[in-house]
Amino acid sequence: MSGADRAAAPRASADELTAARERIAGSVIGRERELELALSAVGSGRDLVMEGPPGTSKTTMLTAITAEWGIPLVFVEGNADLTPSRLIGHHNPARVLREDYGPDTFVAGPLVDAMRRGGFLYIEEFNRAPEDTLNTLLTAMADRRIEVPYVGSIAAEPSFRVIASMNPFDNVGTTRLSSSVTDRLNRIVVGYQDADAEEGIVALRTGLSGPLADRIIPDAVAVTRATREHEAVRQGSSVRGAIDCALVAGQLAGLRGVAGPDDERYPETFFDAMLVALSGRIHVDESAETTPERVLREIWEDRFILDPARAEPG
Ligand SMILES: Nc1ncnc2c1ncn2[C@@H]1O[C@H](COP(=O)(O)OP(=O)(O)OP(=O)(O)O)[C@@H](O)[C@H]1O
Ligand SMILES: [Mg+2]
Repeated sequence: MSGADRAAAPRASADELTAARERIAGSVIGRERELELALSAVGSGRDLVMEGPPGTSKTTMLTAITAEWGIPLVFVEGNADLTPSRLIGHHNPARVLREDYGPDTFVAGPLVDAMRRGGFLYIEEFNRAPEDTLNTLLTAMADRRIEVPYVGSIAAEPSFRVIASMNPFDNVGTTRLSSSVTDRLNRIVVGYQDADAEEGIVALRTGLSGPLADRIIPDAVAVTRATREHEAVRQGSSVRGAIDCALVAGQLAGLRGVAGPDDERYPETFFDAMLVALSGRIHVDESAETTPERVLREIWEDRFILDPARAEPG
């Protein structure tokens, strides 16, 4: 099958996609638009790149979509070591010595594994993979089959897709994708969600509830979001930082006997949780001559001292 024939790849009907979207919405908070776009692309038989900073639901959405369809999600990390043979697979040298090359000596790599099982091959940090690896992928995407020496032609099951992800702010050790790559991919951009959705995610992932949690969760989300706005910060923390901040704050409050949200020791306890959860997650601009700790103190003062009304529970 040539690249031009790919319109023949199987498609899901509108009804099937609607039902899938509704079931998936149960395990993903918000993201209605992104899920709809992603489902339309993969439901059309197409491949996709998802572009967005870390922690913006890319894996969460793909896990939900593949679980819904009962197909594997095969992970690969894009980096300089991801050679074409790592991606495709290799012949086991010990067995080759005993039995000579043959289909049985082949150990499938993630690409062949995903093709055979009809899974999504999910390549994170796509733009860190070497050029020749990207070219191998292009062939698999265009032809839906690849030639493997001593194995023959391996055809992809119809539900096979290539889904790439990349962080638009990541420009260390990355390849600028050539137009021959970008011309073959659809693209969905994901950004950070709003505060309400992030609070929902933190509540879901931490399982925290009760009066103290009702203060911790909004505080954790607010200070984490502030790291993304601070002028000295190159890249702030994703919702992962808020999840950990809430968890650590809950544990510290327990250890220190902080009774509830109005306990006078709450603010300092919360600050210590911020240091633990966020100081390693924010990347301060070199020219700003400050430190993550100082940035966090400013953010904390802003919420707990300068504008305490905003930090009132409820
Ligand atoms: N919309 C969402 N609904 C529920 N949980 C979410 C959502 N978005 C993110 N999360 C949670 O936040 C964390 C990070 O999300 P996820 O792993 O999907 O990010 P990602 O975009 O794949 O990040 P990376 O680029 O670093 O791989 C996970 O713990 C996930 O459970
Ligand atoms: Mg991910």
